[in-house]
Amino acid sequence: MENIKLTGTYELHNKVEIPCVGFGTWQVPDGETAADAVIHAIESGYTHIDTASVYHNEIGVGAGIRMSGAAREKLFVTSKLWNDVRGYEETLKAFDASLKRLDLDYLDLYLIHWPRPLAFRDTYQEANRKTWRAFEHLLEKGYVRAIGVSNFLPVHMEGLLKSARVVPMVNQIEFHPGWMQPEAVGFCREHKILVEAWSPLGSGKLLEDPQLNRLGQKYDRSAAQVCLRWCLQKGHLPLPKSVTPGRIKENLELFDFAISDEDMGVIDKLECVGRTGSDPENAKF
Ligand code: A2P
Repeated sequence: MENIKLTGTYELHNKVEIPCVGFGTWQVPDGETAADAVIHAIESGYTHIDTASVYHNEIGVGAGIRMSGAAREKLFVTSKLWNDVRGYEETLKAFDASLKRLDLDYLDLYLIHWPRPLAFRDTYQEANRKTWRAFEHLLEKGYVRAIGVSNFLPVHMEGLLKSARVVPMVNQIEFHPGWMQPEAVGFCREHKILVEAWSPLGSGKLLEDPQLNRLGQKYDRSAAQVCLRWCLQKGHLPLPKSVTPGRIKENLELFDFAISDEDMGVIDKLECVGRTGSDPENAKF
């Protein structure tokens, strides 16, 4: 937790500051719903918005960003390259298309969404390496302030690092009580790669867990807040998602309480839910 500053940011290994809680938008429908959710998130204090081309809501997310009236440089916006695209030129084109849909001039963070797409399964390491060259180009030219990956296990990361000039700044993986992915997290720690946690609430399933609810009562917080604070105290960056105004606000109210070391240990041992998403090695897309 030592790298959390009072302002609520982490520092990536290239010195870029990243707000330490992000607003996730997976499954948020495009158009007005996405725009309203983003506006509400920004009004509630979020400055970090996470989308992806496959979420099919970049247009709505971009509209929300503009309609919020927030200064662009005060926000941190992430998008991701989908699995149907690999290769240098193809990646640059896909990035450009995301930027146009969002109607932005630059992104703060761009991620390779999954390591082993079905379309490139036999040659995925080579395909990722070509794509990474394009990511490095985008970084060098200032179209993006940081680059990273998502759902990469150590085996995928090792393949990429064989030819990478820039080590990814971020790996966004499924991470929550009951699914802590120690190998992937250990690899990231060793290479100073920030772990972002998708589905930090176990896709909502953790909120019924009796232990988390008991701890919530102890700290006078919700089970969701206990999960998110636990994630922060482990030094990771949670990306909770919600379309419910009260919950959007609640999920950011994490900085005026701390979980004791003993209770951190209790949460570490919870086996309430395992993986809720796909296996990066064998995803069916
Ligand atoms: P909703 O969008 O209807 O508010 P995760 O981020 O782990 O994928 O979990 C997302 C799910 O958890 C969504 O179904 C969301 O519902 C729900 N959720 C998000 N924040 C909270 C909260 N503070 N309390 C209860 N449910 C929440």
